Amino acid sequence: MSRKPGLQTMFACVLLFAAGCPSATAPLAAGKCRPGLSYQCACSDGISIGSQVCALDGSALGVCQCGGLPGNGLAGGTGGVSGSSGSAGSSSGGSMGTTPLPCDVAQLLTEHCGLCHGATPAFTAPMSLVTWEDLTRPSLSDPTVPVYQKVLQRVRDTQKPMPQPPNPALSADQIAVLSNWANSGAQKGTQPSCGGAGGSGMGGSGGAGAAGTGSTDPNIECFDIIARATADKAQKFGVPTTPDTYIGFNYAPPWGSAQVQAVSATSIIDNSAVVHHWILYSNSSALSDGTNQNDSGSHPGGQYIVGWAPGAKPMVMPDDVGLQLPGAGYQLEIHYNNSKDGQLDSSGVRLCVTHAPRAKLAATHPLGQELFATFGAGDVTGTCVPQGPFPITILYSSPHMHLKGTHMKTIIKRANGTTETLVDQPFDFQNQITYPPATPSAATINQGDSLVTTCTYNAAAQFGTKTTEEMCYNFVTAYAAGALAGAPGYTGVSGNGNTCIK
Ligand code: HEC
Repeated sequence: MSRKPGLQTMFACVLLFAAGCPSATAPLAAGKCRPGLSYQCACSDGISIGSQVCALDGSALGVCQCGGLPGNGLAGGTGGVSGSSGSAGSSSGGSMGTTPLPCDVAQLLTEHCGLCHGATPAFTAPMSLVTWEDLTRPSLSDPTVPVYQKVLQRVRDTQKPMPQPPNPALSADQIAVLSNWANSGAQKGTQPSCGGAGGSGMGGSGGAGAAGTGSTDPNIECFDIIARATADKAQKFGVPTTPDTYIGFNYAPPWGSAQVQAVSATSIIDNSAVVHHWILYSNSSALSDGTNQNDSGSHPGGQYIVGWAPGAKPMVMPDDVGLQLPGAGYQLEIHYNNSKDGQLDSSGVRLCVTHAPRAKLAATHPLGQELFATFGAGDVTGTCVPQGPFPITILYSSPHMHLKGTHMKTIIKRANGTTETLVDQPFDFQNQITYPPATPSAATINQGDSLVTTCTYNAAAQFGTKTTEEMCYNFVTAYAAGALAGAPGYTGVSGNGNTCIK
């Protein structure tokens, strides 16, 4: 690896405070919501994610439905959440055929794959994994092998694992259920129903209302930052039919010029057939409210706030912590994968903010490396020597690279010589997500600790802001704000004073 200078100013700061930039999204009075949309919510077991649907008059969110698959954001049986989930993608399709699978196989697929590969595929999954026919037909990406062979490949794939992160990987025992069945001839099941595990329609999922949003705190206001048409902000967005399209939806700060802190971010899912994942960025310069553009996943001037992919939990700040919301504009970037005409969407994020500053201010700090060029596949590392104040508390990590990025880890080197993992995950540009610290103790950084971020690329990589160039950032949400950025008082993301991008 050699160094190549000159590309460091990715967060070029052009402050264009458009005079009187109108507030785009009217705040929703406590409890109000967008009619028909599905909001995520936390289930009472503390693990699962359910969904609650907004009443047709927008007056209130329904009860949190948690009867679906565990921990995956799907509330089975809420029905009719998404107006668009009725039919499957053109090249693929929902379940065809009705022959059952053996119960152990069926149950495993329902529980771990059903969020996306149900009878009607969701979140851009290309096929159903419900019936014996679904598993034994030729696979879409390689018709010379049956789907179940692809299944065995992908559940063992460390690069592009199935289920896709953040959903946990299958255990060796679970993989054995699938491989034993395949190796013994991929037999049909004999029981038409396996009791309880019936895969229900994937109405729509995601969306959490919980966490702060239903709060009675009068200082908290929630804003729905969602996909919308350019011509008329009140209308849904017409989703292009180009596969893997990244659309950035531009917002003026919905809270106007008020100084606010974020307290929670929960996903709103409208059209679960076309949404793959989203990321919310703040932007150093103002953005033209109501516009949107195809941005190929590139966002110079952007700073990561929160990302979501199916299965991810809502982001909720601890009660005494508020997240800094820098920037003069906001951009919701949604990754769509759609091949059908006429698909509309208004998915996005419900961002709740407080007008009463909390005792602790958190910020999202980039860790990693900015000046690099590799001559081939390999690693780039960046070492963060935090300047404090200590202790620093880490809430989330959000790895960010571009198309050649395959893996990212951030290891904490403790002052006493031991190491601890903060995050160590395969990276997929198509599925960028936010992770909590790998262990509870990894959340605390003390004086003398350093954090080493290693980005792995599968080809020669050079730093730059274009999608064809590369990045190596772990966006770490932590408090006190600025503690992982270096020089005392330093609040920017990049530049000379930053001892965490080196
Ligand atoms: C959170 C959503 C989600 C979950 C959960 C999920 N998948 Fe997928 N799956 C996808 C998406 C999206 C694709 C298409 C993109 C890709 O291939 O990575 C896909 C693709 C696949 C493919 C590739 C098909 C081909 O022809 O190449 C296989 C096989 C697969 N999934 C199996 C599984 C299995 C088995 C499980 C459960 C153990 C599972 N998936 C869980 C979303 C999901």
